[in-house]
Amino acid sequence: MLSIAVLIGSLRQGSYNLQLAHTMKERYINKLDLEIADIRSLPFFDQDIELNPPSAVQQFLRKVGAADGVLIVTPEYNWSVPGVLKNAIDWLSRGDKVLIGKPVMTAGVSPGMMGTIRAQLHLREILASPGIQARLLPPAGSEIYISSAALKFDETTHRLVDESTLRFIDRVVDKFIEHAR
Ligand code: FNR
Repeated sequence: MLSIAVLIGSLRQGSYNLQLAHTMKERYINKLDLEIADIRSLPFFDQDIELNPPSAVQQFLRKVGAADGVLIVTPEYNWSVPGVLKNAIDWLSRGDKVLIGKPVMTAGVSPGMMGTIRAQLHLREILASPGIQARLLPPAGSEIYISSAALKFDETTHRLVDESTLRFIDRVVDKFIEHAR
């Protein structure tokens, strides 16, 4: 079974993106071992400490480096990725550069109409940069942009319950498993 490190671009307790990650962890439990790699405790990236980073950074880099692939689930902030996610990716782009060649898929949820399209387009550019060079799941037919979140998530269980969205994600996950093998 593939081990997948999950990066969540929101620190909010009630985050829809976190709810999507939980939904996927449960739904694909027989296919993928999804484990959230915490980005909350990472300090701001600082070249003065990068050669001897704090243990939170070391653990994070080890966890992502050891995973067979990465899933990034992120909101859109001001038409781009949240700073906290960019900071985590900046850490991953240094040292052993653990994202080079790593299979990565992305997804995002917003309460609005656009479903994080702009953020994920930015994210794709970031993930192609020289220090990162992730092996992204090709976007054609695989772009997970979830809009109108309040209509698609259950307020009580905090899980994605929209059937057609779930079936679409099923297909993307199967493609990702093929891509990552
Ligand atoms: C947002 N939000 C937002 N939504 C969007 O579709 N496009 C955007 O550019 C932005 N910009 C933005 C900036 C900032 C600073 C905040 C706090 C929010 C709204 C955002 O999609 C909404 O708060 C989501 O619920 C955040 O995701 P989580 O925390 O639910 O995962």
